[in-house]
Amino acid sequence: MNTPHSDQDLSAFWMPFTANRQFKEAPRMFVSAKGMYYQTDDGRQVLDATAGLWCVNAGHCRDEIIAAVTRQIGSMDYAPSFQMGHPLAFEAAKKVAGLMPAGVDRIFFTNSGSEAVDSALKIALAYHRARGEGQRTRFIGRERGYHGVGFGGISVGGILNNRKAFSGNLMPGVDHLQHTLNIAEAGFSRGQPAWGAHLADELERLVTLHDASTIAAVIVEPLAGSTGVLIPPVGYLERLRELCSKHGILLIFDEVITGFGRLGAPTASAYFGVTPDLITLAKGINNAAIPMGAVAAKREIHDTVLQSAAAGAIELMHGYTYSAHPVAAAAAIAAIDLYQSEGLFERARELSPLFEKAAHSVAGAPHVKDIRNLGLVAGIELEPRPQAPGARAYEVFRKCYEKGVMVRYTGDILAFSPPLIVQPEEIERMFGTVREVLNEIK
Ligand SMILES: Cc1ncc(COP(=O)(O)O)c(C=O)c1O
Repeated sequence: MNTPHSDQDLSAFWMPFTANRQFKEAPRMFVSAKGMYYQTDDGRQVLDATAGLWCVNAGHCRDEIIAAVTRQIGSMDYAPSFQMGHPLAFEAAKKVAGLMPAGVDRIFFTNSGSEAVDSALKIALAYHRARGEGQRTRFIGRERGYHGVGFGGISVGGILNNRKAFSGNLMPGVDHLQHTLNIAEAGFSRGQPAWGAHLADELERLVTLHDASTIAAVIVEPLAGSTGVLIPPVGYLERLRELCSKHGILLIFDEVITGFGRLGAPTASAYFGVTPDLITLAKGINNAAIPMGAVAAKREIHDTVLQSAAAGAIELMHGYTYSAHPVAAAAAIAAIDLYQSEGLFERARELSPLFEKAAHSVAGAPHVKDIRNLGLVAGIELEPRPQAPGARAYEVFRKCYEKGVMVRYTGDILAFSPPLIVQPEEIERMFGTVREVLNEIK
């Protein structure tokens, strides 16, 4: 039975990435979900314009995933993956590998995107060490990058507020590229901005500063979502790939939100035709039914690490109690089957032009500073209110919610990333509601 929030004691749950005091004064509670909609505790339907947190790509409460999870939890709730195995782990790895770029097909399971990022950084170090270049320990991230909240992830990440409280203890030996957003040069771009490929050349400057022989890896989101939807300029990722290869630096694509169809392809790597050495995954990996993440590694990286260890020795001293959890693995197999049987990645690609048009239809509304989009992702950046950064976007978020549409906001940027099952009229409704709200607020 639903407990109305007015009767419930909310004090014990310290909510993540939430203004706890503000939330608890006026809670927004979801109690069930189906397809494109959440239901609130006061019985309202809310259109999910963000696939939860960029993760429920096949829509909510899909019967096939529910059945797989139910079957698995009833037959084997848990089995360790340290020196033991269970068949679903291997099957899930094979399914995930089948969606990765050719050769990037060795899968290390984690429980979240943050863990996938920290695991990828460790694999990069282990690889260089295994090939006798253990001095390659430096990582290059990018300003405004979001790579989760582990100490590795916030160190290579580039979001000030996620770093500053912990700044004394970030990982040493990290540098950052500039981010690629430039509204003056590329505002209101539809799809990839034409301006900005040259920003990848900054890697050459960092190589000159640190020397390539000290750099293990560059990590970027091919399309940065959490930081406010930054679309890579045409040619930028290709150039980064070229420079990393030239200098023996591994390239890591953090595909925690772009993996599993968000851009209308299995990965952003496939969409852009740029193959990194390591890919971090989570969220859509199993439609977010059970926590799960992964690193997909090039076979050469995997083989090098394995072959460098003595026979019978554990090759990589890393792993999680819940790596390849049987229920999460069952959900991954079912979710990937669903993505494929329903052609959801192709569907996302087909809907992209309509989604782009609808997003850019908000351009004439008050307070709009920029609109950017690619695949089924869009960002609408608002002019901030003087002395109150984020306040305007929060008000839009809240009013949209009251009107039955959940959008996401970061600072003064609204983000949209609906489940790939979204209908054209729901796309119109999302952006129509935002337009309406922008006309109502100051
Ligand atoms: C690109 C990227 N990397 C890592 C993460 C962290 O994932 P998690 O919250 O599952 O730890 C996120 C989460 O939004 C993300 O967008």
